[in-house]
Amino acid sequence: MAIPESFIDELISRTDIIDLVSGYVRLAKGGGATMSGLCPFHSEKTPSLKVNSDKQIYHCFGCGKGGGAISFIMEIENISYRDAIEVLARRAGMTVPEDSASGELAGKRRRMLELNREAARFFFQMLLSPDGEAAREYLAKRGVSKTIVTRFGIGAAPDEWGLLLDALTKKGYARQELIEAGLARSGRKEGGAYDVFRNRVVFPVIDVRGSVIGFSGRIIGNGEPKYLNTPDTLVFNKSRNLFALNIAKKSKSGMLILVEGNLDVITLHQAGFDCAVASLGTALTAEQTRLMSRYTEKIILAYDSDEAGRRAALRAIPMIEKTGMHVKVVDMGASKDPDEFLKTHKPDAFRLLIERSENHVEYQLMTIRNRLDMTSDEGRLAYLAEATDLLARLESQPEREVYGAKVAREAGITNESVKNEISKKFRNIRAKQKKDYEKRAARPARTMQPDDRSLRYKSEGSAAAEEGIVRCLMRDPALIETARDAGFSQDEFTSPFLAKIYGVLARRISEGQEIKEQLVLAELVPNEASLLTMILQKPESYPQSARNVSDCIEKIRSEKYKTSDPDESLLLEIKNYKQGMM
Ligand code: GTP
Ligand code: MN
Repeated sequence: MAIPESFIDELISRTDIIDLVSGYVRLAKGGGATMSGLCPFHSEKTPSLKVNSDKQIYHCFGCGKGGGAISFIMEIENISYRDAIEVLARRAGMTVPEDSASGELAGKRRRMLELNREAARFFFQMLLSPDGEAAREYLAKRGVSKTIVTRFGIGAAPDEWGLLLDALTKKGYARQELIEAGLARSGRKEGGAYDVFRNRVVFPVIDVRGSVIGFSGRIIGNGEPKYLNTPDTLVFNKSRNLFALNIAKKSKSGMLILVEGNLDVITLHQAGFDCAVASLGTALTAEQTRLMSRYTEKIILAYDSDEAGRRAALRAIPMIEKTGMHVKVVDMGASKDPDEFLKTHKPDAFRLLIERSENHVEYQLMTIRNRLDMTSDEGRLAYLAEATDLLARLESQPEREVYGAKVAREAGITNESVKNEISKKFRNIRAKQKKDYEKRAARPARTMQPDDRSLRYKSEGSAAAEEGIVRCLMRDPALIETARDAGFSQDEFTSPFLAKIYGVLARRISEGQEIKEQLVLAELVPNEASLLTMILQKPESYPQSARNVSDCIEKIRSEKYKTSDPDESLLLEIKNYKQGMM
């Protein structure tokens, strides 16, 4: 059973799109009812996302995404329609009427989150109990304070096989539920199971909404594996979350410090850097980058100083830049990671490192230099080649010049020849860009086809008129009379998508419900909502009128004749031919 429409209408009327989008994107005042910001759905440096408070819709002029509150949440949280309703309802203090398979899934997720919270509570209590002594000692040895233990909810998993299982089954959770949550594993014995986290310090992983979604457990002392993380479950996906982002997102520092290890995060927070986060033992993913870009424009990379850390940083830099954020890299010198640095230096020293952190160009030059033997001629020539490749890609002329002069000094080559080399490469890149652009421009004129392939129009001619009808009806529902008078019906649409919209409109009109953009959008999935938003923004050839609707109907009917199935028309031709012969 679907969620009742009246509920969704109420939910939409209680949700303010500006408020909602502002939770993810910094919006600035535009003209009138419109605000604008950097689109969260594609990489850009100038804002092309517009959010309209009158119409309660958003639309990006860059990537074409658009819609209402529900499709926004679906897109940005990457969740289903049903889950988006759930999220919005929670925001609005409403309860979604329960039922259906998707409701069951939502229920399962909720239960798993409750189970995780119980488990976190258990680990935390263990840390204070006699069984938590080894973990307490270990944390003390690592210099982790009580305040931080509480702030992060750090816990202990003693070196036993079934403490968590016992405690939680007593609370009414089934063994199978613990297995599905990644907290237990089934043993060899039929129906048996044992705790996954043993002899570990346990860090709960909490998402930005404050739910405990999983755990990261570090072995106490030495042993393998050093870290054990919750596997992907119904509620946990390590490539979509960052450790400590739930805390760091509230930081007033205006940046995020991205590190490799959980303990680096802990130590940094303890030293007053409340904006430190770590990816959960994976290389940085695009999803994590996008997630960070919701909260900041500035990333400080403080990865480990070893070769692996350097490589990871070089890989992360372009990913971070792609979202429009600025990135700088901290050089901790002889210390292997922030944790070690802060064991031997004061927090102010790290603050200084951040201030002096190199922007990415310098960092990349340095990495190239470190790889080469700068005392040999070959080494310096190789440096010149690689460095100028890098600098030629910079858009800004002064930047190319300043770094060019630096490279010249480092390679012991005249300023002039470095400059020439960069200009030559820069011109080549420009020439190639121009050619690509011309190639693109030479392609046939843009069609009116939707970007989303699954919504493609079979007949563009007819679809143009079908869009027209939808637009007219959205603006003036009374025009449906004109369509009815013409005996027009939903099956005359060639686009199933536009037919669906027409169906929604016709139903709402006959049930006497309002036709508001945000209410209609609420019935669509994101790709449909984007397309409808786009269609509604196209200018109409005439002012909406009964005349326009009948013209559109006429056009649809004439197009139908034109594009009727070729096989059918061939048959007809043969028939006529035969008739002529007789
Ligand atoms: P310390 O050695 O205690 O300082 O650990 P750390 O927190 O600094 O971690 P480290 O720099 O060794 O590793 C960085 C991150 O990689 C960790 O926080 C984990 O998320 C992940 N990681 C490290 N070792 C393992 C492992 O054995 N298994 C898994 N799955 N992840 C690991
Ligand atoms: Mn470490």
